[in-house]
Formats: sequence, C-alpha cells, structure tokens
Amino acid sequence: MPLSVVILAAGQGKRMNSDLPKVLQPLAGRPLLGHVLDAARGLEAAATCVVYGHGGDQVPAAFPDAGVRWVLQAEQHGTGHAVAQAMPQVPDDHLVLVLYGDVPLVQVETLSKLIAEAGEGAISILSVMLTDPTGYGRVVRDGAGSVARIVEHKDANTKERAIHECNSGVMCAPAGRLREWLGALKNDNSQGEYYLTDVIVAAVRSGLKVRAVIAPTAAEVLGVNDRLQLAELETAYRRQRAVELMLTGVTIVDPARFDARGPVSVGRDVYVDVNVVFEGRVKLGDRVRIGPNVVISDSEIGDDTEILANCVIDRAVVGPRCKVGPFARLRPEALLHEDVHVGNFVEVKKSELKRGAKANHLTYLGDATIGEKVNVGAGTITCNYDGVNKWRTEIGDGSFIGSGTMLVAPVKVGAGSTIGAGSTITRDTPGDKLTLERSKQVTIPGWKRPGKK
Ligand code: UD1
Ligand code: CA
Repeated sequence: MPLSVVILAAGQGKRMNSDLPKVLQPLAGRPLLGHVLDAARGLEAAATCVVYGHGGDQVPAAFPDAGVRWVLQAEQHGTGHAVAQAMPQVPDDHLVLVLYGDVPLVQVETLSKLIAEAGEGAISILSVMLTDPTGYGRVVRDGAGSVARIVEHKDANTKERAIHECNSGVMCAPAGRLREWLGALKNDNSQGEYYLTDVIVAAVRSGLKVRAVIAPTAAEVLGVNDRLQLAELETAYRRQRAVELMLTGVTIVDPARFDARGPVSVGRDVYVDVNVVFEGRVKLGDRVRIGPNVVISDSEIGDDTEILANCVIDRAVVGPRCKVGPFARLRPEALLHEDVHVGNFVEVKKSELKRGAKANHLTYLGDATIGEKVNVGAGTITCNYDGVNKWRTEIGDGSFIGSGTMLVAPVKVGAGSTIGAGSTITRDTPGDKLTLERSKQVTIPGWKRPGKK
C-alpha cells in the first residue's frame, strides 16, 4: 500500500521553559523536527504531512524546502485530534505512519519493519521496554499475549503502571479504518484529550491484528520533554555517530568527546583527538590527523594532512600533505593546495595558497592569491579593506615576504620578489628584485634618557 507519513508537531513543550517551539529546539545543531523529516525522507513516502500549531508559522518557516504539507492544528486537543487534522490529505488506500516531531532519533530501518507489519488487516505500533516507564502509555496485552489496548500513565491503575512495555507513539495503520476510528474517539479521560492510542481498542474490536514491534534501543524512541532529556538525546546521538565512524575505521580517541553533527565522509586510518566537532558536510582523506580542540564545518581535508590543536576551519578546502595550526583559522573560501603550511595565529579568508606556500606565524591573508613556494613572514597582513570595498592581493610564485609587511591592496607582488621586513607595500613590485619601504634608521648622538625630577 502507498505510504503517507503524518508527523505530530503541534505541542507546546511547556517543560522546556523556552520561547522557541519544542520541535525547533536544536539537537546536534539542527531542529528536532529536522531529524524526523530526514527519517521520513528515508522512507520514500508518497506524501508527508506535518501537523503544527504551537509556535505558529515559525515552525513551517524553519523548513522552507521540506517538500511536505503543513496542516494547522489551531488548538491542541490530543494526539488523536492532531492526526485527524491531517486525514483529509490522506487517501483511504494508504498506510498512515504517525511520527512525533519531538522523537528525533527514530531510525529508518526500524520504521521500515513497522510499516511491513501493517496492512489492510493489521495495525502496528512501536513499543519499547523501559526500566522507568513513568509518564508513558503502557502496552496492555491479553492472556494470549496479543496487544489489547494502550493505557496512558495518568489513567492507569497500579497493576498497569507496573508494565514496562511502553508506547513510543509511533504507529502505522490503514488510512480508511483509521479515519473511522478517529471519528469515533471520545475525550472522557483524565486529560480531556482525544487519544490516538484509543484506536488500538477500536482496531481489536474490528477484528484487526495489532502487532507490536519492540524498538532495538530506547534512545531511538525517547522523546524530548525537557532540557535534561534533550541533553540525554544529544549524548545518545553523539555516541551513535562516533560508533558509526569508528566502525568505518576512524580512530576516535574518546567517543564521548567527539561530535559529528552532519554527514562525514572519511578515507582510511583517520585519527581524531579529543574535543573535536564536525558540523555540516565534512570530508577527510586518507590518514588525516586532527588534533585536540578542533572545529571543522563544511570543509574538505586532503590525504596525509595534519590539523594541529585548536584550529577552526569553516567552508575551506585543504589539500594533501598540508600542516595547519596550532591555533589557525581558515575561513570561508580558504583554498590550500598541496604541501601548504599555515601556522599559529594565522587567519585565511577567501584566499588561495598554492603548492608549498607557507605562512607560519601571526598573519592575515584575505582576498589574496599566494603563489607556489611563497614564504610569508610573521606578522604580515593583507590590508584588503579600505573601509568600503575589499581588494585583492596577488603574490607571485617563489616570493619571500619579510616579517611585518603590510600589503595594501589592490597590489601585486611579482614572482620571485623579496620584500624587506617592515615594509608597507602600496605599489606593485617587480619580480626577482628586493623591494623595501622603510625610513632610514637613525641614532641620535648626545641623547640622554630623562631622569626623575
Ligand atoms: C504520548 C502517547 C503515550 C506515549 C508517549 C510517548 C497518546 C495519548 N499518548 O503521550 O502513549 O507513551 O506519547 O512519548 O498518544 N501533539 C500534537 N497535538 C496535540 C497533542 C500532541 O501535535 O494536540 C504532538 C506533540 O507535539 C508531540 C506528540 O504529539 O510531538 C506527543 O504528544 P505528547 O503530549 O507529548 O504526548 P504524551 O502525553 O507524551
Ligand atoms: Ca511526550
């Protein structure tokens, strides 16, 4: 049967104590709902509907390219009521998979199993065994072990509260039947809400099978109600991502001190020291070594390159056999070719460093092209900004830039130039010559230090 996914995301999340709607709270740097949308995308459903309400248009506005239908649940009268808002969008012959916007770590593989268990004559629910089931709906089974109903914690008696099998909230049901059952829901319970969970009893009564798939790990179905749970899920996510990478062959010195928040692709024998964060898309070649306290966002690092401690690398491309850091900052559009060295307290922005170029200490390179084997001395600065416009600096191959040089852009340094230390270069320099700009050093005869009066 074709699949429609319905994601419930209208709830307020009172216990977050936040101005931000709960489903927009970040996990691994992305909104909770973004993680659920990714899982839904992995299922190749015919359509996905998101029920939103609390936080209003802020929620759809956060996902302009989601390619889903947004359905408003203006007042929140419970999970059954929420699903009912989406049902006009769903044809009778579809299967409906219900996901929660605040249950972010649910895995495509588990959902596929759940979907396979549902059909014309069966609904399936995703349950989970919890040592502390407080707050969750409990899965009540009959004498034969079949699922009979779900009872909410607040409505459960002592015997029911002793059950450890809990409802994750995720379920899959045939749309036509679900529509009937939702239409007949009552809100005569302790919370005065229309419970989605009450469709289980209706399904059993109509002679359908109710199949429970038990989630392989609790983390997969844990929801976020407060910031403590949010941090716990962040830990689970961190662990899961580190495990994935370690199993592909990356050495991660301490998986508890490593965060991969976006897609990472790696070559062989990559080494990652402690307190490293990857954000966005990160690509690492073979034998790349990343030192401690490094943040890499949306960047590519070539084979055999070493990133030393305390570097921040953002939207940069680093070639093979480079050495970066310690304490280097590569900003957007930094492009380092092979065998380049960028050392401590060097900032590179929108600049290209060609093969073998070196800038080892205390330097700013912005809007610049640095030729092959150029040596940029300590304290060199490309003065690229005149207060209004940005200008380019070009340094030809094989040049040697003396320490403390100011290169006032736009300016070109000819190939093979030598620039004397301390120069302020405002005009293009001829290649293969020594250029310097410096007032003559003088020593004043007869000068005396002032004495104390
Ligand atoms: C629900 C389940 C419970 C299960 C638990 C798992 C019901 C009645 N209970 O309880 O069995 O153990 O989840 O976490 O289904 N929502 C809406 N509109 C509403 C109400 C809720 O969109 O009117 C959304 C919320 O944003 C949230 C999800 O539905 O994403 C679950 O709602 P919540 O109030 O957290 O349900 P629980 O009481 O936790
Ligand atoms: Ca909840």
